[in-house]
Amino acid sequence: MTRIAVVGASGRMGLNLIKAVVASDKVALTVAISRPGSPAVGRDAGELAGIAAAGVQVVDELAAVLDQFDVLIDFTRPDASMAFIEICRKAGKKMVIGTTGYSDAQKAEITGASRDIGIVMAPNMSVGVNLSLKLLALTAKVMGDYTDIEVIEAHHRHKVDAPSGTALRMGEVIAKSLGRDLKDCAIYGREGHTGERDRKTIGFSTIRAGDIVGEHTVMFADEGERVEINHKATSRMTFANGAVRAAVWIKDKQNGLYDMQDVLELT
Ligand SMILES: NC(=O)c1ccc[n+]([C@@H]2O[C@H](COP(=O)([O-])OP(=O)(O)OC[C@H]3O[C@@H](n4cnc5c(N)ncnc54)[C@H](OP(=O)(O)O)[C@@H]3O)[C@@H](O)[C@H]2O)c1
Repeated sequence: MTRIAVVGASGRMGLNLIKAVVASDKVALTVAISRPGSPAVGRDAGELAGIAAAGVQVVDELAAVLDQFDVLIDFTRPDASMAFIEICRKAGKKMVIGTTGYSDAQKAEITGASRDIGIVMAPNMSVGVNLSLKLLALTAKVMGDYTDIEVIEAHHRHKVDAPSGTALRMGEVIAKSLGRDLKDCAIYGREGHTGERDRKTIGFSTIRAGDIVGEHTVMFADEGERVEINHKATSRMTFANGAVRAAVWIKDKQNGLYDMQDVLELT
C-alpha cells in the first residue's frame, strides 16, 4: 500500500485529494499538511474534507513527518511547492505535482530535482484532458498548417494564473506538432486595432467566472469548416483521482520527470 502525504490539505484540491486517497484501496493517507497558523492544523483530515474521520491529524511541518509517507502530492502554489520539492529531494521522496503557474526558472529547478527523485508533474491530471492532448497533436498534424488555431479556457473566479496551465500545455503540444515554438507564436488576448490574424499564431482567450471547474476548447478554423476539441471538468475529483493514479504509478519508477501521458501510457 503506497503511503500518501497531501500538502495544501485545506485547499480546494487538497480536500478532494484527501477524499480520493481515502476512497482508494491502493493508497493510504498517512500525512496531511497545512501551513502554520491554518485553522486546519490539529483537525482530523477526513473530517476536514467532510468525510468520516481518517485517523490522520493535519500537521504544519513536512520535515517532521518524512518517515511517514512514500509519495507526496502537491497542489498548492509555486513558491510553497518549491520548498516542498527541496525537502522531498533531500529526503529522496517521490512526488506528484499538480500545481500550475511556475516560472521558467522554477521549472528548470524541478527538472533538476527529478535527477534525484521520481516526479510526475502535469498541469491537468484528468484522463479526458490527457486524451485530448493526443487528439490535439493529431489534429494539428492534419489541419494545423492551414487553419486558425484558438485555445479558449474558462475557470472559477479564484484561479490566480492565466492562461491555465492546461491551456498552455495544449498550446505547446500543438506548436510542437507544427514544428513551432509556442514562445514565438502565442497571442495572449487581443485589444484595439490588432490588424488581421496571422495564420502562424496560436491565440489564447481566458474566462474567469463563478464556480467553473475547468473548461477548454481548441478550435482549428478554416473557411467552410472547423474542428473543435472540447473538454469540460465538472468535479475536482477527476484531477484528484488522476493524482492518486499517478502516485501509485510513480512508487516503483526510477528518478526522472514524468507526466500523465506516461502514467496513462499515451506516449
Ligand atoms: N494538475 C491539475 O490537474 C490541477 C487541477 C486543479 C488545480 N490545479 C492547480 O492546483 C493548485 C491549487 O489549486 P486550488 O484550487 O486547490 O487552490 P487553493 O484552494 O487556493 O489551495 C491552495 C493550497 O495551497 C496552500 N498554500 C498556499 N501557499 C502556501 C504556502 N506558502 N505554504 C503552504 N501551503 C500553501 C493553501 O493553504 P491555505 O489554505 O492555508 O492558504 C491551500 O491549501 C493551483 O496551482 C491550480 O492551478 C491543478
